[in-house]
This record gives sequence, C-alpha cells and structure tokens, in this order.
Amino acid sequence: MRKKINIAIDGYSSCGKSTLAKALSKELNYVYIDTGAMYRAVTLHALRNNIIRNDQLLEDKLDTVLDTLYITFKYNTDTRQTETYLNGKNVEKEIRSMQVSGHVSKIASQLNVRKKLVRLQQRMAESRGVVMDGRDIGTVVLPDADIKFFMTAEPKIRAQRRFEELRANGTDVTFEEVFENVNKRDTIDSTRDHDPLRQAEDAIVVDNSHLTIDEQFTFIIGQINKVIEAPISAQN
Ligand code: DC
Repeated sequence: MRKKINIAIDGYSSCGKSTLAKALSKELNYVYIDTGAMYRAVTLHALRNNIIRNDQLLEDKLDTVLDTLYITFKYNTDTRQTETYLNGKNVEKEIRSMQVSGHVSKIASQLNVRKKLVRLQQRMAESRGVVMDGRDIGTVVLPDADIKFFMTAEPKIRAQRRFEELRANGTDVTFEEVFENVNKRDTIDSTRDHDPLRQAEDAIVVDNSHLTIDEQFTFIIGQINKVIEAPISAQN
C-alpha cells in the first residue's frame, strides 16, 4: 500500500488553491480541508448574530460565542464536492458571498479565532492523507507536512478568475469590486500580527499566472508522487 502523506497548500486569495486541492484529493483519494471555509463560517456567524455591526467587530462578543461554534465538512455525493457545515447546517453557498469575503480577513486576524481553528485543523490532519489549503498551513498548522506548495499569480489575473467564478454563480458584482476585495484581503492577510500569509522556507513556489489548470496539476502531482514513492529514509 502507498504511504499516506499530508500536503500543505498556501498562497494569495483566488489563485486556484482550492481547485488544485480538490483535484489532488480526488486523484489521491485524500481528505480535502478548506481552511478558508472555516474562517468564512465564523464570519457568517458573526454577521448573522450582530457580532459585526456597521462594519465594527465586537471582539468580546466573538470570543464568548467561539466555543459554541461547530464546523465540519461533509462530502455531497450529488455535487461531488466537500461542503461546509456550521452547527450542523450546510452554509457552503452563504460563506462564498461578497459580504462574507468583505469581512473575513478581519475575523481571520483575531488571535482566539486562529487558535481555535488551527487546533481543529491539526486534529483533522492527525490520521494523514490530507490536502489542506489556506494561508498558514505550511508555516503554522502543519509545519511538518510532507510537501508544501506556495501558490501565486498576478493580481489582475486572480481577480479576473474570481470575477468569472462569481458571475457564473449568479453574483451581481463588477470586476473592480472583486479586484479591490482581492487586493485588500492580500494586504490584511500578509500584514496581520498573528500567523500572516508567508511562504514556508521549504515550500515549492508555483506561479500559475500563465499555466493552465492541467499543466499545473501535472507538475504538482509529479512532485507529490516523488515524495510518496521515496523510501522512508530518503525523506529525512
Ligand atoms: O481561501 P479563502 O479566500 O476562502 O480564505 C478566506 C480568508 O480566510 C482569507 O482572506 C484569509 C483567511 N484565511 C486565513 O487567515 N488562514 C487560513 N488558513 C485560511 C484562510
């Protein structure tokens, strides 16, 4: 039997991390963990419960509800996607809204939120065979991951891809709004005090500005297979 490894994927907003992670989890029959979805679920809860009011985050109130939040993933056999559940309810669609995107970086900069979600993510990866994507996976959540990728692409190209995805889902949004949101999130995510977006020293950097999804997949699965097939001693 092939050994199971943990794969960490980090990078900027909208550079295709989840598309890649989903394809890898399918190919390898691994569990896909979308950590951004977990920060989005907390944000949705905060918006629904007036913990974000007039763009102000009530930090004390957020801290008191954190322990009541229960975030899980379930595979939907109809859509063939892993979907996010908040306290037992499917929130997959709601967490992708522009309103959630507009507030998620603020929520993700909160130390207590990060502590809770990082702990949960580490537990999810304990049995290995996991593809996890986010901003701090290779640096904080799984510093011992067997292989790490750091994805990047030109900001305009990333915003265009995200714009097309949102329009395809029926979201009424302009390219400028998406471009501004992508840039703003990148700035907040990489300059925050706690676990900022940062490339792990041992990550393989992939700039996919001019790569097709297939070209990128071929390169990355090749790198992963080398690690899976390497004799145990060769990895250390
Ligand atoms: O990957 P995404 O765009 O769905 O992530 C939503 C936000 O969550 C993003 O702006 C940064 C934050 N995030 C984070 O801080 N740490 C992670 N591991 C994943 C996401």
